[in-house]
Amino acid sequence: MSITTAAHTIALIEGDGIGPEIVAAALPALEAAAEACGARLVWRRLDAGTRAYARSGSSVPPDVLEACRRVRAMLKGPAGLPGVRHADGTEAGTVAGPLRKAFTLFANVRPVRRLPGIPALAPEGTDYVIVRENIEGAYATRGAGEATDDIAEDRIRITREGTTRVARLAFDLARQRSAGQTVAAGRTVAAGPRGAADPAGPRVTCCDKANVLRSFAFFRRVVGEVADQYPDVAFDAVYADAAAAAIVDQSRRFDVLLAENLIGDILSDAAAATVGGLGFCPAANVGERHGLFEPVHGSAPGIAGTDRANPTAMILAGAMMLEWLGLTEGADRLRRAVDRVAESGGLGLRPDGTVASTRAAGRAVLEALR
Ligand code: IPM
Ligand code: MN
Repeated sequence: MSITTAAHTIALIEGDGIGPEIVAAALPALEAAAEACGARLVWRRLDAGTRAYARSGSSVPPDVLEACRRVRAMLKGPAGLPGVRHADGTEAGTVAGPLRKAFTLFANVRPVRRLPGIPALAPEGTDYVIVRENIEGAYATRGAGEATDDIAEDRIRITREGTTRVARLAFDLARQRSAGQTVAAGRTVAAGPRGAADPAGPRVTCCDKANVLRSFAFFRRVVGEVADQYPDVAFDAVYADAAAAAIVDQSRRFDVLLAENLIGDILSDAAAATVGGLGFCPAANVGERHGLFEPVHGSAPGIAGTDRANPTAMILAGAMMLEWLGLTEGADRLRRAVDRVAESGGLGLRPDGTVASTRAAGRAVLEALR
């Protein structure tokens, strides 16, 4: 090994259900892509999720949190299982929520890109990004809402600080995409270069229910104030219900779609369904210092252990992680390899969104890298 090889320690959480098998399929390709730009990935495996919960009463025990604190990047498979719940009915095994909060991962960057050769509702070349505010909004009182036998309440919280920082990130991202740039390491996000050239130029669309709730009207107002500082980026706003329809039949109008936490959660699953399914969509949860990279989808216990889960979202999450670490060339190579495999039918994609073999799909991406 060359002495110039830089080692990057990554906190690795395999997760539940299909988590371990899609992580196993993805890792060799990530390692090879990093190696191609002179870097070595060192995995620090951590036990979080439903097993950790069963063992310790916490899905993200303090030692896991501490290990994550020491690294810049965390890679995570889907965590949580439907049968593992708190007394209040919410899931007990989820991992993303606690990590988002612990490390102030205020933005969840979710590229919606139709891969070549993948049958989908959205037109070829579809390529936009949902930026989901990640720690406040309707999730603000998560685990701390009030419930009696007769009434339950959670509260939507929108702060100027939280909205401003995620809005800045969205506008910066729109700029970077329109410049055709990949994004350098640091406080920026990692969503890859903008694919299909959009003659309309960079745009941020604020997505809310400002027509109904004060909190959302405030969100829109604060985003608008940030927009004033980006005269080169077009700005508009859309109500979330209309956005749900537009994602299905007019997604070309979007470049960067900025949404409150719960709205962003819901819309990103819908958006994934239009580009071939949840198996294709990665997410980067980013803050000032830490980044958590994961697929948008869940742990799919129904197909766990059958070698049929699509590992693409997991691999593309790894590409976002490489970019976050400054390994831009590796990220580009990895995305191109994924595209080639998709285009040539190498994923063995089935109509129900599963693949012929998770392992074989991972190997095909690794081969395409070489
Ligand atoms: C997501 C997931 C999580 C969320 C769950 C697992 C807590 O759906 O990352 O989109 O609701 O944020
Ligand atoms: Mn979700």
